[in-house]
Amino acid sequence: MDTVWPGMLLAMGGVLAQSRSIFDPASPSAQSIVNLAILTLVVAGLIFLVVEGVLLYSVWRFRQPPQVQLGKPADEPPQVYGSMPIEIAWTAAPTLVVFFLVLVTTRTLWEVDPHVPEPRPGDNTLFVTVIGHQWWWEYVYETYNGQPLGFITANELHMPVSEDDAPRPVYLTLKSADVCHSYWVPRLGGKVDLIPGRVNVMEFQTKEPGLHLGQCAEYCGAQHANMLIRVVVETPEEFDRWLANQSQPAVEDAAVTDGKTLFLANSCINCHAVRGTAARGTYAPDLTHLMSRQTLATGIVENTPEMLADWVRDPQVIKPGCLMPAFGLAEREQELIVRYLHTLR
Ligand code: CUA
Repeated sequence: MDTVWPGMLLAMGGVLAQSRSIFDPASPSAQSIVNLAILTLVVAGLIFLVVEGVLLYSVWRFRQPPQVQLGKPADEPPQVYGSMPIEIAWTAAPTLVVFFLVLVTTRTLWEVDPHVPEPRPGDNTLFVTVIGHQWWWEYVYETYNGQPLGFITANELHMPVSEDDAPRPVYLTLKSADVCHSYWVPRLGGKVDLIPGRVNVMEFQTKEPGLHLGQCAEYCGAQHANMLIRVVVETPEEFDRWLANQSQPAVEDAAVTDGKTLFLANSCINCHAVRGTAARGTYAPDLTHLMSRQTLATGIVENTPEMLADWVRDPQVIKPGCLMPAFGLAEREQELIVRYLHTLR
């Protein structure tokens, strides 16, 4: 418990240093959205200025005259009723404004709507299926450069960076395993919902390497606010290395055989998978390369051995309500299992 809060604060400190503003776009679709947002804000701002200006002028122009304060009757302003030109003007002007906004919104929707190509060799294109779970993200890596991948990871999406002469887009197929979620990385694109029984797609590409942060944007239960998204944008070489590592089955380390045996003998394997072992659960994150991830618990704490031990001891302390219970393992058993997990690089 003592180690949980410093770890959380560290992870949060790193998170706060990252921009998550829609006004700081890092991909073409996010750029289209911010253009529309600014245009709409300008139009709304002009309307605000005109309306407030007329209102303030009226307040000043028709303020209570001094003679009323002295108890004398006021002169009423001229009473106008039924003016065809004014009626037409204030019906037509808002209609035109709304029509204009509908047109530019339609254009933006068209721009951000992904036209998903077929994977083919040398296309520099990544295809990933994202499955929303309460409260974590499953990433099924389908193909890259036309090559089938077929491994599963969780919570941290890795993708290659684009260059001027070599765009490297990622196409996400979005599904849900339980309730509605919404995938939102503000600097990379708009929100797209993950809906049970439905398949949505989104696309983004970025020339900005590094970490891009996001957040589930649809209320999905107790830990909705902690359903964080991390997109790691790497050079093609780094990404290839990451792909090669993820494609391998889990590391076999004879030094942690006791921990592995314990892990496989306990109920861990009902939910978790470790490729190359008897653990084939699909209900919870795939742990094959657990230690290649920077964070635990969907991005809320750093992935350190201490934090991993705290997590295995009682996940409810770190993430109350999460679907993994405390299993009440003996201290020694926990230690061995954590030591085993720690070798899964
Ligand atoms: Cu998932 Cu909110």
